[in-house]
Amino acid sequence: MIGGYRQLIEEGPRVTTVPAEGDASHVIDVSKPSVARVYDLALGGKDNYESDRVIYRQIMEILPEVPEWAKENRRWLQRAVQWMSREQRIDQYLDLGAGLPTVQNTHQIAQGVNPMAKVVYVDNDPSVIAHGRALLMDNERTDFAAADFTRPDEVLSDPAVKETLDFNRPVGLIQALVLHHIGDLDEVLANQAEYLAKLPSGSCVAISHACNPRDGSEAATLAAVFEDKFRPHFPSLRFRSPAEVTSMFGDFELAEPGLVRLFDWYEPGAQPEESPAENYRAAASQFLICGVARKP
Ligand SMILES: C[S@@+](CC[C@H](N)C(=O)[O-])C[C@H]1O[C@@H](n2cnc3c(N)ncnc32)[C@H](O)[C@@H]1O
Repeated sequence: MIGGYRQLIEEGPRVTTVPAEGDASHVIDVSKPSVARVYDLALGGKDNYESDRVIYRQIMEILPEVPEWAKENRRWLQRAVQWMSREQRIDQYLDLGAGLPTVQNTHQIAQGVNPMAKVVYVDNDPSVIAHGRALLMDNERTDFAAADFTRPDEVLSDPAVKETLDFNRPVGLIQALVLHHIGDLDEVLANQAEYLAKLPSGSCVAISHACNPRDGSEAATLAAVFEDKFRPHFPSLRFRSPAEVTSMFGDFELAEPGLVRLFDWYEPGAQPEESPAENYRAAASQFLICGVARKP
């Protein structure tokens, strides 16, 4: 567990500083929107600033379904972690781009199945670093690495990761709504190759990702509009095709039901709750796709 964390907010003209273990890179710039805080707004969170709310209002004008998708992403994460914990007996997780703490975080889901489960969260957003550490102060089996997940070697050699996770036993790698924040697909695939190679047989990777079906459909048009509109604020945002997202699983085997809409990912035999999908524009609901794959 991380010890010695202290949150100290120094109000400046536009910048709130949260010194995290003396690292100057952990400075919250409230004048710029943060992906983590805008997403948290969609989940109903309170840790946001006007710069985040401006973007959020623009998103809501185009896609008023966004809060429901954000919540569905968390519901999918819950189903996926429960499946990995229960059916695959995974009891250790690496959650890359974990986001601000919310209701039912990965360690709460995994420990709900197996109280001995361990989780390491990784994020490089100063708001997440501050709140993530605070959340984990009282959980002995959970840790946080303030790291950039596009540097797998640094993530994998981080003391939090090395001391908490045993890479000789299956690990669950979680990449929920994060890989579309890396603009270059080749970079994504190179990083994936490093992460996936490190995982032993029986490990799983769970990915959810923004999708552009690129098939001339209404969904493809909407995805392109959304991407263009928000590129000035989030320049590396990329909606990708199902084939591109599939390639991120490497040679892992996709578990049933495969790569599908968030709303459609249920383990075989599970009785879907009443799906909210049809209440939302059918085209828009295809924006977020997900899958869980296992290393043979
Ligand atoms: C949309 S949120 C997703 C949060 C969470 N995974 C979920 O699905 O609820 C994306 C998160 O990825 C983090 N992130 C983006 N790029 C990152 C990077 N290169 N390294 C570490 N974290 C990153 C952001 O700070 C943010 O917290």
